[in-house]
Amino acid sequence: MEVILKIKETKKIIDEWKKQGLSIGLVPTMGCLHQGHLSLIEKAKNECDKVIVSIFVNPLQFGPNEDFSRYPRSLEKDLECCRNFGADLIFIPSLKELLPDENLVYVEVDLLGDNLCGSSRPGHFKGVCTIVAKLFNILTPDKAFFGEKDAQQLAIITRMVKDLNFNLEIIPCPIIREADGLAMSSRNVYLKKDERLAATIISKSLQEARKLLENGERDSLKIKSFLRESIKTKQIADIDYIEIVDLATLQFLDIIDRPVLIAVAVYFSKTRLIDNITYKEV
Ligand code: PAF
Repeated sequence: MEVILKIKETKKIIDEWKKQGLSIGLVPTMGCLHQGHLSLIEKAKNECDKVIVSIFVNPLQFGPNEDFSRYPRSLEKDLECCRNFGADLIFIPSLKELLPDENLVYVEVDLLGDNLCGSSRPGHFKGVCTIVAKLFNILTPDKAFFGEKDAQQLAIITRMVKDLNFNLEIIPCPIIREADGLAMSSRNVYLKKDERLAATIISKSLQEARKLLENGERDSLKIKSFLRESIKTKQIADIDYIEIVDLATLQFLDIIDRPVLIAVAVYFSKTRLIDNITYKEV
C-alpha cells in the first residue's frame, strides 16, 4: 500500500494504472475511519481494480464555530485499517498541498443545499463539493463511494457529477450501525457515556416512524411530531431538525405521496449527530 502526500506523485501512479487499463475506486474520507468507511473500501475493492482512500480534514466544509480544530484524527490507526482492508493508495495531502492559496473559485450548490444540514451549516456543501471536485480531478476515479448516512451530501454530489459532467459513477453505500442501532460516525467518539446511551433514541425513533409509514400514515406533520416527541424523551437530546423531503429533490413534502427521505440532526452537548431512513413503498 502506497501512502502519498503529494499530488504530482499520486498522479504518476494513477497514470501508470490507467496505462494498464485498471479501474480506480475512490473512497473520500476525513479520516478517523470506522466500520462505515471500511464497508466503502470493501465495496470499492469488489468493484474496482485499484482502491484509493483519501484522508483530508477539509476546512472549507466547517463553519467558524464548528469542530474543525478538534475533529478526531487517528492517522496511524487509519493506515492500519486501510492496509487490512486492501486499499492500494492512501492520499493524504497537507492543507498547503490541496489548498495552497485562498480559493477564489468554488463549486456553489443551488436548492439541494438550502435545507436540512444546509440551513444549519451555511456554506457546508459548497465546501464539500469544492474539495470533492478537486479530488475527482486529481485522482480521476471511475467510481467514488459515499455513505447513505450523509444522504444530502450523497444527493448533492450525485447531482454535481451530472450537472458538471464529471466522468465517473457515484456508488451509494448503506448506513452501517452499531449493535444498538446508532449510525456509525467519526463524531461518535465525542459522546460521553450518558450521551452515547441516549443517542440510540435517534435510530429507535426512525424505526418507529417507518412503522407508522408502513401502517399507512402519510401526513408529514404527524410523523415529524411523533419523531420530535420520541427523541425528546431523552432530555439531553437537543433537536436541530427533523424533516421529511422528496428523496430526489430534497424539497419539503406535506403529504408523503412519493419516495421520501426522513432526516434528523440532533445535538448531544456540542456533538451533532445525523441519521436518516428512506421510504420508497408509496
Ligand atoms: O463525508 C466526508 O467525510 C466528507 O464530507 C468528504 C466527502 C470526505 C469531503 O470532505
